[in-house]
Amino acid sequence: MLTGIQHLHGALRWVVLILMLLSIIKAFSGMSGGRSFGKGDYKRGLFTMIALHLQLVLGFALYFSKGWSSMLGSADAMGDTVLRFFSLEHMVTMLIAVILGTLGHSLSKRAADDRTKFRRQAIWFSISLVIILASIPWPFRPGFEAYGWW
Ligand code: HEM
Ligand code: HEM
Repeated sequence: MLTGIQHLHGALRWVVLILMLLSIIKAFSGMSGGRSFGKGDYKRGLFTMIALHLQLVLGFALYFSKGWSSMLGSADAMGDTVLRFFSLEHMVTMLIAVILGTLGHSLSKRAADDRTKFRRQAIWFSISLVIILASIPWPFRPGFEAYGWW
């Protein structure tokens, strides 16, 4: 069960990355082209946010059931790259990224005009994406060779 959740969490990274990238490209092009903000633009942002929330739920399920939460603050764990990464760094930075991504959708929804709707998606999703890219345990990172590409 846990292995399945971890595979799902690892594979969903690509859904998050693709949706984020699409949303950002469409938001910037909509802004510069003066396009009106349509239903598709709203839905793309909503699905991006839902993908983030799914990762949040799956991530915390792994975090608590695989024992990462209990390593927090342990000097031994904090001295180890991989143990510190999952018990502290990945959890904190991804939580921030999910919050910023949620803001991208929510603030865009509340904006009064189309340009502001695009702009809020563009800005918040971009910041969130940079944090996500930096916080994924890519297999080329030293120590993370055991983590795959999906
Ligand atoms: C956009 C959000 C996130 C993305 C893209 C992401 C991505 C990933 C990836 C690619 C892996 C490696 C999977 C593998 O190859 O086995 C992973 C593992 C993991 N992530 Fe996330 N993650 C996100 C959010 C979170 C959050 C919010 C938490 C909460 C604590 C979390 C906790 C974990 C844990 C515990 C593991 C498993 C490490 C292990 O037991 O070996 N993730 N994540
Ligand atoms: C730990 C779990 C979760 C937390 C803390 C969380 C948090 C939030 C928050 C704070 C909002 C409000 C955003 C706003 O004010 O516009 C929200 C909205 C939403 N969340 Fe989550 N969420 C979680 C899990 C999920 C899951 C698992 C899904 C679906 C797969 C999901 C789907 C949604 C949807 C559809 C909305 C409404 C979007 C809209 O404004 O139209 N969430 N969530």
